[in-house]
Amino acid sequence: MNLPIRPRRNRRTPAIRALVRENVLTPGDFILPLFLHEDAGDTPIASMPGVTRWSLEGLVKEAGEAHALGVPAVVLFPKIEEDLKTPLAEECHNDDGLVPRAIRALKAAHPTLCVITDVALDPYNSDGHDGVVRRDEHGQLHILNDETVEILCQQALCHARAGADIVSPSDMMDGRIAAMRAALDAEGFQNVSILSYSAKYASAFYGPFRGALDSAPKEGDKKTYQMDPGNAREAIREVLLDEAEGADMVMVKPAGPYLDIIAGVRECTTLPVAAYQVSGEYLMIESAAAAGWVDGKAIALESLMGIKRAGADMILTYYAKRAAQWLAS
Ligand code: PBG
Repeated sequence: MNLPIRPRRNRRTPAIRALVRENVLTPGDFILPLFLHEDAGDTPIASMPGVTRWSLEGLVKEAGEAHALGVPAVVLFPKIEEDLKTPLAEECHNDDGLVPRAIRALKAAHPTLCVITDVALDPYNSDGHDGVVRRDEHGQLHILNDETVEILCQQALCHARAGADIVSPSDMMDGRIAAMRAALDAEGFQNVSILSYSAKYASAFYGPFRGALDSAPKEGDKKTYQMDPGNAREAIREVLLDEAEGADMVMVKPAGPYLDIIAGVRECTTLPVAAYQVSGEYLMIESAAAAGWVDGKAIALESLMGIKRAGADMILTYYAKRAAQWLAS
């Protein structure tokens, strides 16, 4: 053939492929989600094979190992004892609660580790919702927005006082970013960042996570606050609002089935964009790999590359530590 233009020339050798590669995964891209509980031991999570619920001691060790591999940040998810759960989730702003103690332990042991906390009521709420629930005279459930935002601000302040670097509201209430920024600034926490779960979808991919924390809603679903999977423009609306309200970083969640949303968000804001490869995404890869149907390592790394290529600056992933190991080897 008389073909002057041959794209395959740019793929001819590993050296040329390295030169022309547009995106590279590094451990610095990853945020490791860590589950914790009050128990003294570390427990494998039944609904999430390969993931552990840590004691405080185990948490500090695991975070240290991930950090030593180049993972810059962790995000904390507590399992709260049933008898501490209440309708107004008071335990979420207890300065001696599990999360503040974990933050202090992590910062003491690993001062350079970035500690991120999840701000939402669901682990602490006896109704299992991210916000305060009220039942009306017809028995209909309502998630109260403004009342919830007040509690979320107290929760964010509690995490800031304990030393969190970044607070990350995952509740999807309206107006929480502005309220949280004002509350943090009023108490002198100008340096605490807000990573907003701006576009968080009402997703079935969170199922295994709720099993891990016993945090599934007792009644109803999360569709009046989390977004409809059919919507894309609405994600841009949420991101622009959060940016205007003072978010430092925005997030899209889940990640893999929402790559178009990540790409769209990347185009509409100059803020850093995070994406969360959630429990269901992780387990689909893990279960197929365990069955011997796919190459787990290759698929995991390719899924993370896809998320980065779509426009994510950082990825929350249960693979963070393993992927860092794979990338180093
Ligand atoms: C709750 C929260 C959820 C996840 C992170 N924070 C679950 C939910 O919204 O029901 C899911 C993470 C995952 O599935 O890995 N605020």
